[in-house]
Amino acid sequence: MKISPSLLAADFKKLGEEVARITAAGAEMLHLDVMDGNFVPNMSFGPDVIKAIRPVSDIFFDVHLMIDRPERYIDKFIAAGADGVTIHFESTEQPAEVLKAIRAAGKKAGLSISPDTPAEAIEKLLPLADMVLVMTVYPGFGGQKLIPAQLEKAQKVRNMLDAKGLTAVDVQADGGIGLGNLSDVLAHGINVVVAGTAVFGAPDPAAVIAEMRKLA
Ligand code: DX5
Ligand code: ZN
Repeated sequence: MKISPSLLAADFKKLGEEVARITAAGAEMLHLDVMDGNFVPNMSFGPDVIKAIRPVSDIFFDVHLMIDRPERYIDKFIAAGADGVTIHFESTEQPAEVLKAIRAAGKKAGLSISPDTPAEAIEKLLPLADMVLVMTVYPGFGGQKLIPAQLEKAQKVRNMLDAKGLTAVDVQADGGIGLGNLSDVLAHGINVVVAGTAVFGAPDPAAVIAEMRKLA
C-alpha cells in the first residue's frame, strides 16, 4: 500500500510545514488536488502553489487535475514539479494523447474516472496509464462519505488490468477513506490510498499514517 495524503485538507496558512510533516511521517506520495471551478464546482490551487512547496520535500508529487481540457496545462504542472499527473477521462476529448504526453515528459500518467463513469469506458486506455484513479466520491470537495459501489468498480479495473497483464499499474482510490474503511478499500484491488481529512484533519497525522500501515 502507498499512502497519498491530500493537501486539500491541510492548513493552507502553513502549507510548507504541512508538507514537511507528512514527509517525515513516511507517506509515499503527496496528493495535490487541482480544481478549476468548471470541471468541478470548486477551486483550489494551481502550478504556482505546487512550485512553491516543491523545495520542501522530495516525496512523489501526485497531481490530480480536476480541470477541463487538461492538455492546456500539462507542461505547467510538470515544470512546477509534478512526478505524476492524473487527468480525468471525462475532462478531455483526447485522453490517449494527454497520457502519452505525460509519459513522453518522463512522468507517471494517471487516468481518473468519476463515480458515473463505468470501468469499461477506459479499457482501451489502460496500456497508456501508470495509475488508474477510481473516485470514491464525486470530485470537488474533501470530507465526503465514500460511495461503496465505487469499490466494486475499482476491483473491476484491477481485474481488467490483470487480464491484460498490466500488473504493475497502480489502482488508486480517492475520497472518504479513513481508518474505519481502509481494510475494505484494500480488499478491492486498490494499492494507492488518498486520504485528506483522515490524515490532515487529525491532531497527529503521523499517528494516523502509522495506524493505516497496521491495517495494510
Ligand atoms: C476530491 C479530492 C480528494 C479529496 C479527498 O475532489 O479529489 O482528493 O480531497 O479528501 P477526503 O479524504 O477528505 O475525502
Ligand atoms: Zn484527489
